[in-house]
Amino acid sequence: MRNLKNQPKSHLSKSILFLAISITGIAFLFLFSSFISTTGFYLSSPKINLHVINKPRTISIDDTQKFLYWGHRVDCPGKHCDTCAGLGHQESSLRCALEEALFLQRTFVMPARMCINPIHNKKGILNQSSQASSDEGWMATSCAMDSLYDLDLISKKIPVILDNSETWHQVLSTGMKLGARGVAHVQGVSRVELKENPQYSNRLLINRTASPLAWFVECKDRLNHSAVMLPYTFLPSMAAKKFRDAADKVKAMLGDYDAIHVRRGDILKTRKDRFGVLRSRHPHVERDTRPECILQRIAKWISPGRTLFIASNEGKPGFFSPLGVRYKTAYSSNYSWIVDPVIENNYQLFMIERLILMGAKTVIQTFKSEDTDLSLSDDPKKNTGGWMKVVSTEGC
Ligand SMILES: *[C@@H]1O[C@H](CO)[C@@H](O)[C@H](O)[C@H]1NC(C)=O
Ligand SMILES: *[C@@H]1O[C@H](CO)[C@@H](O)[C@H](O)[C@H]1NC(C)=O
Ligand SMILES: *[C@@H]1O[C@H](CO)[C@@H](O)[C@H](O)[C@H]1NC(C)=O
Ligand SMILES: *[C@@H]1O[C@H](CO)[C@@H](O)[C@H](O)[C@H]1NC(C)=O
Repeated sequence: MRNLKNQPKSHLSKSILFLAISITGIAFLFLFSSFISTTGFYLSSPKINLHVINKPRTISIDDTQKFLYWGHRVDCPGKHCDTCAGLGHQESSLRCALEEALFLQRTFVMPARMCINPIHNKKGILNQSSQASSDEGWMATSCAMDSLYDLDLISKKIPVILDNSETWHQVLSTGMKLGARGVAHVQGVSRVELKENPQYSNRLLINRTASPLAWFVECKDRLNHSAVMLPYTFLPSMAAKKFRDAADKVKAMLGDYDAIHVRRGDILKTRKDRFGVLRSRHPHVERDTRPECILQRIAKWISPGRTLFIASNEGKPGFFSPLGVRYKTAYSSNYSWIVDPVIENNYQLFMIERLILMGAKTVIQTFKSEDTDLSLSDDPKKNTGGWMKVVSTEGC
C-alpha cells in the first residue's frame, strides 16, 4: 500500500482543492500554421492576451492508481525542440501515448503545453533565432494543453493529469520515497512487456523516453488496424468545450450541409531537381485542389444548390469563389462573431473547423485516410514515393 505524504486521502484532495489559481499573462501570437483557414485570419501584429490558465483540476490519487509519463513536450524527447509539427502530427503522437496508457490502465501525464508550429509565420512576428531556446520563446510558441482539449472529457476514457499539476508533484515525491519501487525509466520496451513484467507493472510511475523522431513512432503497428485502440477522431472530438459550443452554433446556422477540407499551403511544397524539373511529395494535389477540379470531382457526391462548408489553409482571398456557381459556399469567416472570440491561435481555429467538418452530411478530405473516404486527390496521404514530378497539366 502506498501512502501519499502519509496523509489521509480526504486531506490530500482538500489540499489540492485549495491550490491557488495562477494567472499568467502570456503573449499568444497568431501564427501561420499549416492549418490556417482561407478565411481572413490575417494579422500584422501579435495580439497579446491575458489569459487565465490551468484552473487546478482536483484529482485525488488512490492506492491503485499508477502513472505513465512520456516527457514534457509532445515529439520532443530529445533535443529537437525548437520546431514542431502541425497539430495533426502532434495529435498522432499524443494518441499513440494515450493508447499505451489505456493498454496499461495507467493515468497519462500530459505535457502542460503544446508547441505551435511557427514555420508558416510569414508575417515574421516571431524572431525564432533569438527566442527558440529560451523559456520565453517556448511560452510564445506554445499554448496550454487545456486551452485546446477538455481534459475531463478525455479522462472519461483515459484518466489524464497535466505535468504542471499538484497531482504530478505528489506522484514525483511519492515515487522518490518509494525508491526502487517508485519509478521505472524505460526506452524501447514494448507495451506488452510493460504490462506483463512485474519489474515494470508494479511501479507507481513508468517514465518512457519515446523515439527521438516522434512519439508516434512508438506505434509502429498502426498498420494493423485491430491494434489501434483510439480512432483518429478521438482527439478532435475532445476539443475544449468553448470550441465544441462554437462549432455547434455554426453547425446550427449551416443547417443541412456538406463540407470539403482543402489542404494547400505546406502540402504544395516543391523543389527543383538538378534538371530544373519541379518535384513534389504530392504531385497532383496542387491541380486537384484548384476550384475547377474540385467542381468536377465532387459533382458526383454533392448535388447543386447544397450548402458547402470549406475549410482550407489557402491564403488567397476569393480562391474558392468559382465553387459559388454550383454551391452555397460558407467558411468559418462567415461566422467570425462566433469563432473569433474563442480562439487565440490557428490550431484552435482548425479544431473548430474540424468539428464543423465532422458534422457535415458528406465530407470530402484532401487525401483518403481510409479506403472508404471521399477525397479530392488520389495522391497518397503519406508521401511514400519521395519527390515526384509535379503534374500541372490542364484538365483534372
Ligand atoms: C531578431 O533576432 C536577431 C538576433 O538576436 C536580432 O539581431 C534582430 O534584430 C531581431 N529581429 C527582430 C525583428 O526582433
Ligand atoms: C525520465 O527519463 C528521462 C531519461 O532517462 C530523464 O531525463 C527524465 O528526467 C525522467 N523524468 C522523470 C520525471 O523521472
Ligand atoms: C494485430 O493486433 C492484434 C491486437 O493487438 C494482435 O492480437 C494481432 O496479433 C496483431 N496482428 C498482427 C499480424 O500483428
Ligand atoms: C460567406 O462569405 C462569402 C464571402 O466571403 C459569401 O460569398 C458567401 O455567400 C457567404 N456564405 C454564407 C452562407 O453566408
